[in-house]
Parts: sequence; structure tokens; C-alpha cells
Amino acid sequence: MLGNGLLTSEGDFWLRQRRLIQPVFQKSRIASYASDMVEETLRLLSTWKAGEVRDIPTEMMALTLAIAARTLFHEAVEGEAAAVAQALHVMQEHFVNRFSGLLPWPLWLPTPGNLRVRAAVRRLDELLFRFIRRRRENPGPATDLLSLLLHARDEGDGQGMSDKQLRDEAMTLFLAGHETTALALSWTWYLLATNPEAARKLREEAQECCTGRRRPPTTARVCVMRRW
Ligand code: HEM
Repeated sequence: MLGNGLLTSEGDFWLRQRRLIQPVFQKSRIASYASDMVEETLRLLSTWKAGEVRDIPTEMMALTLAIAARTLFHEAVEGEAAAVAQALHVMQEHFVNRFSGLLPWPLWLPTPGNLRVRAAVRRLDELLFRFIRRRRENPGPATDLLSLLLHARDEGDGQGMSDKQLRDEAMTLFLAGHETTALALSWTWYLLATNPEAARKLREEAQECCTGRRRPPTTARVCVMRRW
């Protein structure tokens, strides 16, 4: 599923890839993704109405999926968000089942579960290879992670990454960056809901430093938590 991306590779190959990818996570780069994150968050908030009941993990998954697609690939996945989220969900469920199962079925067996996983991987592969093909044909300004990965060159031999390696790194970042952050946010909401005093402090501080569209948060203006 993840192929030979950062999370699953080892040894010299991992070190080489890690060095190639490292610049993508420099502080200044992360800061440049902040406005995309704020815009996606405001877009989600504009669909929320006061008094409504919302399923927070579902909302957070949709939010981090949109942010991951935009910051990693400079692509909107709105039209395909539900299908992509479903494919990621099938893959994640499979991970958990494999790790917790006593005797996991080999992946090549055509069990209903394995067929579902293979279809999910195929669906995501189609999407990622499409993003990679489009970007190779039309490189554009290197602001998102995919462009940076495409332009990354090994210091020793000057080699870039193959489409397969790009796919593996992109799939890894897509999976590693999407569910982790959605769950961290979901637990944050849960903890705030069960700690009214903490929620009050957070609201006050957020109102002090930023107020919605008129004064959205920036990396320079993130002061939340500093006083805690
Ligand atoms: C709250 C959010 C996150 C949590 C809790 C989290 C957690 C972790 C943990 C525990 C590891 C180490 C795994 C190991 O030792 O094998 C890891 C590695 C990794 N994470 Fe995250 N992560 C988060 C967000 C992200 C994001 C946003 C991205 C990318 C966009 C990301 C990409 C990666 C990658 C590529 C690795 C492998 C690094 C390497 O081996 O060189 N993670 N993460």
C-alpha cells in the first residue's frame, strides 16, 4: 500500500529519501501552507450553522483531507472527497485488522476484504498518478509538496525520483498527514467539551488574536496556548 515511502523504508535508502524530502518540512515552507489551511477551515466553518449537531471526526477527516490534497498536491478533491475518504478508510481498517489479527490472510488471496483493499489502493493510485502526470506535464511554480518532491535531486548523483517513488512518498504523506491530524483535532474538541474552563480560555485567546474572516490566524499571529 505505502510501497517504499519514508515510513516503511529502511537504512541507506530511507536516509537518502529523508534528506531529499527534508526541505519540504522547513519552518518557512510550513508557514507558507498556513493560509491554505486557514482558507479550508473557513470554508468548512461557513457550512456550519449555529445549533446544528455535527459528527466531529467526519468533519475533521474532510477538513484534513482537503488540506492534505491542497498543500501536498495543489489539487482540490471536493468532487472526489467522499470516494478518496472511503478508500483511505478501507486501507486504514485493513492496517488495523492485519496488526490485530492472529493469522492475517495473505494479500494475494481473493477474500472479500482483500479485494476491497486492492480496489481502494487502485483508486488512490489512479488519483496520485494523475496528479504526478499533470505536474510533470505542467510543472508550474514549486509551492506544494509534490512539486518540491519532483524537483528534489540527490546531492550525490543528481537523480530525481521515479513516478513509482513519487507515488510511494505521496501516498505515505497523504495517509500519514491526514488521519493523524484529523484524530488529534477530534480529541482536542472532545477534551475541550469536557473541560469548560480550558474551552473558555481558548475562546478568549482566539478572539483576542484573530476573529474569523476579518482577522484570520497566521503563523505570526498564533498565540493560542502560549500562556497556558
Ligand atoms: C498529530 C499529527 C501526527 C501524529 C500524531 C504523527 C505521528 C507520527 C509518528 C508516531 C511517527 C513515527 C512512526 C515510526 O517511528 O515508525 C511519524 C512518522 C512520520 N510522519 Fe507523522 N504524525 C502526525 C502528522 C504528520 C503529518 C501532517 C505528516 C505529513 C504531511 C506526517 C508524516 C510523517 C512521515 C513521512 C513519517 C515518517 C518519517 C521518517 O521515518 O522519516 N505526519 N508520525
